[in-house]
Amino acid sequence: MSAGGGFRPADGIVWITGASSGIGRALALHLARRDFSVAASARDAKALADLAAEAAGAGGRILPLPLDVADRAGVAQAVARLERESGAIVTAILNAGTHRPVEAGRFAAEVFDQVFRVNLFGVVNCIAAVLPGMLSRRRGTLALVSSVAAYGGLPTAAAYGASKAAVSHLAASLKLDLDALGVRVVLISPGFVDTPLTRRNRFPMPFLISAERAAECIRRGLEGRAFEIAFPRRFALLLKALNLLPYGWYFAAVHRFTGR
Ligand SMILES: NC(=O)c1ccc[n+]([C@@H]2O[C@H](COP(=O)([O-])OP(=O)(O)OC[C@H]3O[C@@H](n4cnc5c(N)ncnc54)[C@H](OP(=O)(O)O)[C@@H]3O)[C@@H](O)[C@H]2O)c1
Repeated sequence: MSAGGGFRPADGIVWITGASSGIGRALALHLARRDFSVAASARDAKALADLAAEAAGAGGRILPLPLDVADRAGVAQAVARLERESGAIVTAILNAGTHRPVEAGRFAAEVFDQVFRVNLFGVVNCIAAVLPGMLSRRRGTLALVSSVAAYGGLPTAAAYGASKAAVSHLAASLKLDLDALGVRVVLISPGFVDTPLTRRNRFPMPFLISAERAAECIRRGLEGRAFEIAFPRRFALLLKALNLLPYGWYFAAVHRFTGR
């Protein structure tokens, strides 16, 4: 495998964070059923053990790796232990994330602390743990899960959208730096996916897809060579196009679509 692409079970371990529910869980099962060895991380150790049991009998396997992505030292220790005992992580899919709506009329800085601790610094902590090994092998893939919400401002998304914009920027910057060092960087930008995270939403979610469909889109994208895996394609393209408009038109369109 090179920085240009490739995604095969024989390459080595795929590490997925946020694997106890939603997209991460569906992706872990999807890959284990296609013969991949998957290290599955989240805080909920019981959910990870259940996930591993569900994958028993699949062509691949799921190795539970419980951790809190906000705990930098804990992440480093867990990754070192996994690589010592089970082999190198060749693909890290950094998917753990959280959402807290911001009601701007009751602005609270703590919401930003909580969201950024997981969505941005959780990703940074995981990269810090896994990248040195990839660099020494001149081989590996970092896949950062952002969101189409990163493309532009959306109502109540001041914390979530800003954290995901930071993740997208982080991915694009690292890609430019790591291409020449044998490490591929991939940006994953999902639209609405039916998971525990979005089941709390009180607004209509256009182009909503299942977590299983999202898992398939991610696997296909990793098999290809593109930098960004954005899905559903039409929704992602629509939002990208909206963000090319002058701000006045963009805000009018968002007001119209969201009713806010
Ligand atoms: N669903 C969507 O429509 C959508 C759209 C765009 C982007 N995304 C992104 O996709 C990713 C997955 O979202 P999802 O919808 O599948 O949400 P989800 O079902 O709520 O899953 C979130 C996962 O992150 C883990 N997690 C949260 N905080 C953590 C922490 N501190 N340390 C370790 N793991 C942590 C959770 O496990 P524990 O609670 O057990 O730790 C869980 O496994 C997120 O980054 C989200 O922002 C989702």
